[in-house]
Amino acid sequence: MRVALSTGGGDAPGINAVIRAATLGATRRGWEVVGIRDGFNGLMFPDQYPQGNGTVVFDASSVRGIGYLGGTVLGSTNRGNPCHFPVEQPDGSVDYEDRTEHLVSLFHEAGIDALITIGGDGSLSIGQRLCQAGLRVIGVPKTIDNDLDKTEVTFGFDTAVFIATESIDRLFTTATSHSRVFVVEVMGRYAGWIALNSGVAAGAHAILIPEIPFRLEPVAEMINRRQARGAGFAIVVVAEGAIPEGGGRSVLGRPRGQAERLGGIGEQVARQLTHLTGKEARTAVLGHLLRGGVPTAQDRLLGTRFGAAAVRALEQGLNGVMVAVHELSMEYVPLADAIGRMRSVPLDCDTMIAARDVGICFGDDV
Ligand code: F6P
Repeated sequence: MRVALSTGGGDAPGINAVIRAATLGATRRGWEVVGIRDGFNGLMFPDQYPQGNGTVVFDASSVRGIGYLGGTVLGSTNRGNPCHFPVEQPDGSVDYEDRTEHLVSLFHEAGIDALITIGGDGSLSIGQRLCQAGLRVIGVPKTIDNDLDKTEVTFGFDTAVFIATESIDRLFTTATSHSRVFVVEVMGRYAGWIALNSGVAAGAHAILIPEIPFRLEPVAEMINRRQARGAGFAIVVVAEGAIPEGGGRSVLGRPRGQAERLGGIGEQVARQLTHLTGKEARTAVLGHLLRGGVPTAQDRLLGTRFGAAAVRALEQGLNGVMVAVHELSMEYVPLADAIGRMRSVPLDCDTMIAARDVGICFGDDV
């Protein structure tokens, strides 16, 4: 058996633990492992790599010690979807080609029997297309946003929450000294898991998440009440995808062939809070800091379990499934059922209830 590993889309702390575990699990079974660089680019465009090496053979020694490293040793990309590949035309316009069949033939030519694709919704959807076109595929879900349906948790999320919490702790002390409002913008495109968990853990005073369209009047009232009680500072955590009531997501740009780039909501919220309260409000954008660096023990453990479970799926003869966490165990769900669906924060989950119990404001009237 020859197994390929690929990492696509935004990176997440814990990917290298997946790569290590999948490599060890496969090679211990006597299988060969090939890593594809930069999503599928290494296989599609080998000439773009030194000595034409767009793929790399992995064995126990090549993955030794990589589990604690952030990022992905294979590299990643969120451009050039092979199923919807952008091709620039002579007149400067862009047409899109479906290169799925071509990519599957490249896998077959390389003698690869199966692919373990480690990615978010985009990469898992590509995996599903490759599977339909005749490649054996196992998916491993990956996103710091923790918003993939069909798995209760994804690796990278714990690290993101840990770093966000630590950063909010630091902003607390300086906010207190200066009696300032701090608006902390964190990642979270469609779901507010990072904002909610880090905000509650750090004791933020308001949390704005995509699931609850917000108004700033209740937040301003909370800040004014605190001021009247002698606490002149406040921390507001806002997910990058949070939406003001009646408005839309704050978009920084729409790069060609990529998802729209979010950002700017923190600054907008700070400006309006200053207007409503008269207090100085500053913004800190944590952004990619939440995606980088050393994964927590939890994410290394989860990554190892995902990688090992992906290899067991191949051993069991499965195809077209995604590894998922369900009630602390690993299970396999059809890729087709896992893609294109978000896992939002349930507004009646215990963390939300606890947050309301301790008085955190969500920019609504509850
Ligand atoms: O999907 C994970 C995520 O962290 C989102 O929260 C964020 O919008 C996106 O990645 C940013 O991706 P990029 O690095 O490609 O701009």
